[in-house]
Amino acid sequence: VTFSDDNSRVIAELPTGESVTVLLYGATVISWKDAQGDEKLWLSEAAKLDGSRAVRGGIPVVFPVFGTAPTHPQTKDLPQHGFARTSRWEFLGKSTSESQTGSAANGPAVKLDFGLSSAAPGLDPIAAARWPFKFNLIYSVTLTQTSLTTSIVVTNDDSAPFDCQVLMHTYLRVKDITAVQVQGLADASYIDKVDGGARKTQSAAEVTITGETDRVYTPAGDPGAGPVTVVEAGRPVYAVTRDNLSNVVVWNPWADKAQGIADFAPKDGFRNMICIEPGAVGAWQSLEAGDAFEGAQTITLLG
Ligand code: BG6
Repeated sequence: VTFSDDNSRVIAELPTGESVTVLLYGATVISWKDAQGDEKLWLSEAAKLDGSRAVRGGIPVVFPVFGTAPTHPQTKDLPQHGFARTSRWEFLGKSTSESQTGSAANGPAVKLDFGLSSAAPGLDPIAAARWPFKFNLIYSVTLTQTSLTTSIVVTNDDSAPFDCQVLMHTYLRVKDITAVQVQGLADASYIDKVDGGARKTQSAAEVTITGETDRVYTPAGDPGAGPVTVVEAGRPVYAVTRDNLSNVVVWNPWADKAQGIADFAPKDGFRNMICIEPGAVGAWQSLEAGDAFEGAQTITLLG
């Protein structure tokens, strides 16, 4: 594990060459490369990496609110997608293992742990005032030769209950969005945010992206049941599995929306990305004092 000169990011590399880079600001994964050096995540060329705004690309962590919630008293004053992605996290350390027995991925692995809590250094004063609860977040990023896992544990350290939502806003890199099919969402109900929040059911076996797409899917059954698979030109490239995260947001801004997003570059970059965002956002997770919520995603390279 190495740190960038300015201590802004942590870089971990496996002996076989795969690497992951995590910005302490937001604990945002900003790069994930395979052994050939091919980047798996999309990161805007105009993304701010200096802590002045949430990172456009990579894997921002959404907590404690997905979007905004004007009618939810505890989070109504928080910015879109909460404060986790705009707070500086602490690096808690790394652990390595030679092989992961019992896991699909065998071979070396490295895990990086990050923390954000109400205790010092905590949140910036504005976020702390808007979210006055005692809480603790542990976010872990695990790299293997064929996969990346991000997992979060939210603990309520307060004496009062609080509600939260959690989501991993993963921008997967693709070569050509028009050749992409997303499998594993057939028959799932979803909220279509592009159509005024209409409730719909995924009728086609595959999701294809032909325009602005912003959907909150709730696949039936256990979150661990089956992967959401990104297929490109007929070839499966990523399998996303979930642990305890009931929802999957599929987002692509397409041309017009990308035009209007200041830090989205190049403007035709929407062709090279698809957000597949596992989360617990359909309902509030109500955590009693002392309770914890845990959720994770694993993205496996299939290509
Ligand atoms: C997605 C939301 O998760 O994030 C979209 O469903 C939103 O509605 C997108 O536009 C990007 O959000 P932001 O705050 O990073 O621009």
